[in-house]
Amino acid sequence: MDRPYIICHMVTSLDGKVTGDFLGRDAHSGLIKDYYRIHREYGADGFICGRVTMEGSFPQPPVLPIVYDCPSIERVDHIAERSSFYAVAIDPKGKLWWGSRAISDPDDGYDGAHIIEVLTQNVSDTFLAHLRGKGISCLFGGKTELDLTLVAQKLKRLFGIETLLLEGGGIVNGSFLQEGLIDEISLVVVPEAECSEKAISLFQTGKYHADNTMTASFRLKEAKILDDDGGLWLTYQNSYEGVMNMYNFIFQNTTKIYFGENQLGHLGEELKQYGTRVLMTYGGGSIKRIGLYEKIIEVLKKAGLTVLELSGIEPNPRHTTVNKGADICKKEKIDVLLAVGGGSTIDCTKAIAAAAFYEGDSWDLVTQKAPVIKALPVFTVLTLAATGSEMDSGSVISNIDTNEKYGLIHPFLQPKVSFLDPANTYSVSAFQTACGSADILSHIFDVFYFTASEKMDMVDRIMEEVIKTVVKHAPIAVKEPENYKARANLMWAASWALNGFLQTGGFQAASCHAMEHELSAFYDITHGLGLAILTPRWMEYILDESIAPQFKKFGVNVFGVDSSLSDMEGAKRAITCLNDFLFKTLDLKSTLTEIGIDDTNFKIMAKKACQGDVLQGFKPLTPEDVENIFRMCL
Ligand code: NZQ
Ligand code: ZN
Repeated sequence: MDRPYIICHMVTSLDGKVTGDFLGRDAHSGLIKDYYRIHREYGADGFICGRVTMEGSFPQPPVLPIVYDCPSIERVDHIAERSSFYAVAIDPKGKLWWGSRAISDPDDGYDGAHIIEVLTQNVSDTFLAHLRGKGISCLFGGKTELDLTLVAQKLKRLFGIETLLLEGGGIVNGSFLQEGLIDEISLVVVPEAECSEKAISLFQTGKYHADNTMTASFRLKEAKILDDDGGLWLTYQNSYEGVMNMYNFIFQNTTKIYFGENQLGHLGEELKQYGTRVLMTYGGGSIKRIGLYEKIIEVLKKAGLTVLELSGIEPNPRHTTVNKGADICKKEKIDVLLAVGGGSTIDCTKAIAAAAFYEGDSWDLVTQKAPVIKALPVFTVLTLAATGSEMDSGSVISNIDTNEKYGLIHPFLQPKVSFLDPANTYSVSAFQTACGSADILSHIFDVFYFTASEKMDMVDRIMEEVIKTVVKHAPIAVKEPENYKARANLMWAASWALNGFLQTGGFQAASCHAMEHELSAFYDITHGLGLAILTPRWMEYILDESIAPQFKKFGVNVFGVDSSLSDMEGAKRAITCLNDFLFKTLDLKSTLTEIGIDDTNFKIMAKKACQGDVLQGFKPLTPEDVENIFRMCL
């Protein structure tokens, strides 16, 4: 496991409350002692609590507002000390002004635990300076909200925590539960019902996933009567017995697809189910050149819909364009959005759909400063096979003022209906066809084909078939742009590479995508080209004995590499085949130098890709690793 084994250890009332008067009654003091005894007996490497629980359990002397005359402090993880026992505080905004570097408590099970503050980047410099001054460690778990999976991974990787006791409160417990991070539950049950509505339950809905209710099943491991005190000690094991998320998934893709020629006749009837005022969005004019614009306008008029337009959506769409679209939606009381174009138009339109319900700058939604609370329905007519945006809930938006490009992902952004007519991609240039194909391949490689996790055979084999489909049909589409069969195969492959199906059973962060988004954020290059240049270099860089078998298998099954070669030779051969495919067969440029990029910004780009620390993925990469990979691409 790449994170600690997590045991949620709590005292509860009969009605599952973890706060209330029952905790303070003399009659139950023996059980509270049992709770502390069990805590000690677990011999864990640390315990983790939310801010409120920490404040309640370990009150600190009041802190006068401290003003440090300090320069801005970098938001990087800080290991102040190595310890055999840690007190980990979930304190996203930095409110726990600890008086010292370790817990001071009469109980041996807590006393002396070195403090690790878990923060978002949204903390003040003054607070960080205070932590440094006191010798307290800290780690960052997100920009404005915490990604608890990442936090758990960092606790293991940076501090070596193998076993962690999760000790409340209810919202923190609930958030861990919702992220599938609880392996075991240990409950000391007090024989009293708390009943108070104000009392908090063992698992409250995690605030980070308030709209995402889920059930989690555990099986009873042991039930022990705690002598004389009338209490019970119940332990439960996660049904998946510590194998994190293996074959444990929810799959729902709600986009209705009309595939093939002459399907646009259905557009009017589908749109009318969501309203009558349509904002049609498109890019720089390709849809007019191919006659698609007129066709769609005719269908919409025929259906009696009122149509407004937003044109000029840029490749690598800008947040300023999203703002423009959101203004139109608000002013014109738009009911439904219709994106006609490639991934950029669709992504921009999805972001508009969410921004239509937000009063501020849409960049706040992209950077998660503000949550997506609602979104207008989105329809798409796809004209370029690449991103899968027509059938997923993601959008990627750029801010050219800050050289940033981030994903905005939310279930509300999933298109309601998408029209996929391969003939609409006949006019896509050889270059964009090649880039789109590289993007499709990368979605499979990056997200779950090359992975350290276990995956289902069925999914693995389908991935290889989709990869082979692209390898077969992309060169045909490049040479014969009006080959319907090739265009159809590429189009459907693109949608399925990233519609969630191939990610069933596991998930991993997409490291090549994170590196590419830095390239396109700084240099506005075509996404698929950046991926094509990066991917073989990344493979070369991470290749070692443990990775070689996967790369070799890819070479054997996709490119027919000789299976009798050693793992390492087979892996190297596979990388050569991928190079030849991308740069000879598809004729893409193979270096950053050829597209005018030098090393000026590599350091900062590498740091941003890693969010200051480590870029997760098949193989975790440090900023230095990422910089090395960028250099290999020169
Ligand atoms: O703007 P127009 O005139 O339409 O021209 C476009 C654009 O110049 C042109 N084009 C599109 N369809 C055409 C056509 N030209 C002739 N005939 C047609 N039928 O192609 C150019 C590129 O279009 P764009 O939409 O930018 O390409 P793509 O579909 O590759 O989208 C790239 C964007 O999607 C993001 C990328 O980062 C990038 O910003 N991604 C979105 C993802 C998602 N939503 O899930 C995931 C991806 O990994 C990716 O990051
Ligand atoms: Zn992509």
